[in-house]
Amino acid sequence: MPQTEVISGLEGVPIAESAISRVDGKAGRLEYRGIGIDELAEHSTFEETSYLLLYGELPSKRELDAFDAGLKEYRPLKDDVVRVIGALPKAGHPMEALQAAVAAIGMFYSQGRERDESSRRASCLRLIAKMPVVVAAFSRFRAGKEPVRPRNDLSHAANFIYMLTGEEPDPAHARILDIALILHADHTMNASTFAGRVVGSTLSTPFSVVSSALGALYGPLHGGANEDVMELLDEIGSADRARATVEKMIEQKKKIPGFGHRVYKTMDPRATILKAHATELAAQRDDPMLPIALEVEKVGTETYGAKGIWPNVDFFSGIVYRAIGFSNDNFTSIFAVSRVSGWLAHWLEQLEDNRLFRPTQKYVGKLNEPYVPIDKR
Ligand code: COA
Repeated sequence: MPQTEVISGLEGVPIAESAISRVDGKAGRLEYRGIGIDELAEHSTFEETSYLLLYGELPSKRELDAFDAGLKEYRPLKDDVVRVIGALPKAGHPMEALQAAVAAIGMFYSQGRERDESSRRASCLRLIAKMPVVVAAFSRFRAGKEPVRPRNDLSHAANFIYMLTGEEPDPAHARILDIALILHADHTMNASTFAGRVVGSTLSTPFSVVSSALGALYGPLHGGANEDVMELLDEIGSADRARATVEKMIEQKKKIPGFGHRVYKTMDPRATILKAHATELAAQRDDPMLPIALEVEKVGTETYGAKGIWPNVDFFSGIVYRAIGFSNDNFTSIFAVSRVSGWLAHWLEQLEDNRLFRPTQKYVGKLNEPYVPIDKR
């Protein structure tokens, strides 16, 4: 049916049928395959949640063990890939490095266009397994250090911390990172997932799907907001200065980073869980950031809560990541290390009943213009 009205930002336009995740924006509820995110955060692991997203059901013990063994097997990067990562500019952003590395990794696995299920499954494992290894390797190169080889006796989250720091990970930190990875793993039809599905619909490779999704996630309106939150908290510096700073932002009509969401009109359920963990971590290490964040949250919700603008997932995640030892500019990469499972679940779903995305436009340009030769312009 021809559609003549342009829907800005495709707001409210369903672009696919999906059975992967569901958001109830009014109730502040997020489910993966029908299971509440709060239950998964309490009982599941990132590995198990990834399986759930990809294949639609919680795995049996045997299925989970095989999935986990596959992830561990695919962790190591080829020496050539490590050299590519080492050659990238150290001043570049980790998300750009990750996008470049994922595209480069794809060149080493040319199984054509992934027609059969086993090569699709292998690509999913490869991408999920290797992304944290890439993030850690680039982070270490930037610090003038050699990358640390992955360890197979550690979980996905614990190994990520180990590869970044080169030190034995604190089990409590590993569990909180595991929970953060669960919370970020999918979120319905957001910009990066849509970007990935568009590329998937051309029957391109999963490495192209993920690298284009990474490009979309990099933007500050999507995955980059937790970095902005921490910059704001650093700039404020102490809780007693928070109110004045936020009130000035409100007066100047500046958006508060980590606030607002296209779908949630109440507190983002992921923010509620991360707030609890940020509070737990802050109590252990006397974190000066949390009191500032709580004050910003208070002023922000006093002003905007009635308008449906509340803290989103990015508001407390930076505090958690910093407490675990990640630098600000790695925050979006952690989001990507998690969201890759959702992107790939959407890629598999797209391929089940694929139709090329090819929207239309409303032409508003000139008509029937003459070509003017260059010496007459
Ligand atoms: N602080 C203050 N006001 C905000 C706001 C924020 N963080 N987010 C939205 N608003 C206001 C806008 O100014 C606008 O007000 P108006 O109607 O008076 O012009 C209204 O709410 C709608 O905002 P809009 O940006 O059009 O909504 P959206 O659905 O397109 O945006 C976001 C959703 C996430 C892009 C937006 O809330 C935002 O930019 N937030 C900050 C960045 C962020 O945290 N991103 C991470 C998302 S998980």
